[in-house]
Amino acid sequence: MDLILPLPDDFHIHLRQGKDLVNYAQSAMQQFGRVLAMPNTEPPINSAESVKKYKEEILAAAPNLEVLLTFKLNKNYSEQELREMQKNGAIAAKYYPLGVTTNSQDGVAKIEDMYPTIELMEKLNMVLCLHGEEPGAFCLDREKEFLKHLEKLCKTFSKLRIVLEHVSSAEAVECVKRLPQNVAATITVHHLILTLDDIVGDSLRPQNFCKPLPKLPKDKEAVRAAVFSGNSKFFLGTDSAPHSLEKKECLCGAAGVYSAPVAIPILIEEFENENKLDLLSNFIAGFGADFYGIPRQAKKVAYTKKEWQVPKTIDGAVPLKAGEVLRWQK
Ligand code: NCD
Ligand code: ZN
Repeated sequence: MDLILPLPDDFHIHLRQGKDLVNYAQSAMQQFGRVLAMPNTEPPINSAESVKKYKEEILAAAPNLEVLLTFKLNKNYSEQELREMQKNGAIAAKYYPLGVTTNSQDGVAKIEDMYPTIELMEKLNMVLCLHGEEPGAFCLDREKEFLKHLEKLCKTFSKLRIVLEHVSSAEAVECVKRLPQNVAATITVHHLILTLDDIVGDSLRPQNFCKPLPKLPKDKEAVRAAVFSGNSKFFLGTDSAPHSLEKKECLCGAAGVYSAPVAIPILIEEFENENKLDLLSNFIAGFGADFYGIPRQAKKVAYTKKEWQVPKTIDGAVPLKAGEVLRWQK
């Protein structure tokens, strides 16, 4: 049996840099037609020149991938700098609070310090992508405690489009639903299927460790309900974030789930299990494009119902559901 889908968009992916970028960009190209690449490389993407160079590097590795860029919002930019970044392909800024995730040691302590740039972004119709976690709060409460900043941003910049990335808590889902239409959220595949139990329940599973943490069963249910209700404010951003085995399994293991190679097969399975396959196209290739104001993907891709086993490692990283059997493949 075949399932014809629009070629998916991923509105949140980490493609890394250097040698790693080649593999990860090619893997992404096998699954997605269009991706929004995150800027938390070292050094970060934070100038017109680095936006341009990063786009060129990604395209050199994956020529058929349509690449949309972000830049890191950890300093204030002039209107001219923003316009130049926009010209070079940046459609959004990514805000990381200080120290909450991988490569955020240069993140921001106080979001209000970025308001001058955010005001310019509103004027230039750029999107603000938020890593929504409050530094210093208890790990399971970090997202919930960030929501006050989202509410204030929304009041202060009523025309700014804001994406709360990788929502993982019932409170965040409710908040996004309640706020006006210029506020949306991405949802990852792993937050749809994991809870804290899958990281530290029976055994320690570093491959599932990521920020924001997958939380309680009620949180997973809220994230699932948002997706399976077909609400257009919620769309796919995998937050696929590969790290080598050595970086994951050591004294200070890195946060990030590598999901790009398995994201769409898992989603098909989840939507099928919920009897909601009719909602899948909008989630993977509709609502996100609409929110970002870009054309919906016209190309199609066929998936076949045929079991396959997820390799134990792909491109040197352990993927989500490594070793497990999935039901759908391209
Ligand atoms: C991401 C990474 O590894 O770059 N890690 C993660 O746990 N999600 C960064 C991020 O998006 O938080
Ligand atoms: Zn991310």
